[in-house]
Amino acid sequence: MALITSKEMFGKALKSDYAIGAFNVNNMEIVQGITRAAAAQRSSLILQASSGAIEYAGPRYLIHMLEAAMEETGIDICLHLDHGANFKICKECVDNGFTSVMFDGSKYTFEENISMTKEVVDYAHAHGVVVEAELGKLAGIEDAVKVSAADATFTVPEEAAEFVERTGVDSLAVAIGTSHGAYKFSGTPKLDLERLEKIHALIPDTPLVLHGASSVPQQFVKQCNDFGGQIPGAQGVPEEMIREAAKRGVCKVNVDTDIRMALTAEIRKYFAEHPEGFDPRKYLGPGRESIQVLVEHKIKDVMGSAGSID
Ligand code: G3H
Ligand code: 13P
Ligand code: ZN
Repeated sequence: MALITSKEMFGKALKSDYAIGAFNVNNMEIVQGITRAAAAQRSSLILQASSGAIEYAGPRYLIHMLEAAMEETGIDICLHLDHGANFKICKECVDNGFTSVMFDGSKYTFEENISMTKEVVDYAHAHGVVVEAELGKLAGIEDAVKVSAADATFTVPEEAAEFVERTGVDSLAVAIGTSHGAYKFSGTPKLDLERLEKIHALIPDTPLVLHGASSVPQQFVKQCNDFGGQIPGAQGVPEEMIREAAKRGVCKVNVDTDIRMALTAEIRKYFAEHPEGFDPRKYLGPGRESIQVLVEHKIKDVMGSAGSID
């Protein structure tokens, strides 16, 4: 088994209108829950680490955990840097064996974003690594990139086409109304699918990426709140909208918040019911299982990537 790039998996996804889940990882239980789910569903898989995750776990630990996961499950994995803020972190990840990196230049001007992305593309491609870039701004908190709702701007289709042409980037994250975290919409959820369609029509061969794509399952919100949490009104992207996005060129769907919620809901429940408990296996174990159930559901019923490695 090996760490692979997303090139082939995106090619297949683009042709058949499904998407690959890109799940954020921070520790062993998260890696195990996700990889066991992908193996059970015979699905292509992207695991991504933010700079915060890399700092927390250590790049070598992350890589070795993935090696163990590939050995256990028998599947290949694409290891991706999520929201790389500069050339240095992208280069470090390329040098450490990541097979895909994101350079997030969304806070810069169009021209600055192009030249900084191009620098990353040149280095990564010379080392067999693929690159994701971002055009437009999502509201919410990204690692080292904070954007207020007022500053969020949707991707302009014509700019997306020019950006891809001039940078040679392998995939493009677009802003169409999603945002990071657990509070994505204050009213009715809405994505600009028309805009997505226009972008896809102009660059039909470029895999598009949807950040901030967690659905924030209400059973997790309830379980957290029932057992001492305080996340009232948390709301994500309805699953049906993810399916619609996958029909319009979205090949990579980023999910972090849902993984965090699945784990936290189980931990909260355990401690509320067992105030005397202190064995981490007793609460991390159910958390890991809950992550696996969640990811299998996403792969099978939302992204449509089940069976994609057969
Ligand atoms: O897009 C952001 C991801 O959810 C990563 O979050 O920077 O807290 O690891 P993090
Ligand atoms: P969520 O906060 O919706 O899980 O988004 C994660 C993400 O976009 C990681 O890059
Ligand atoms: Zn993101």
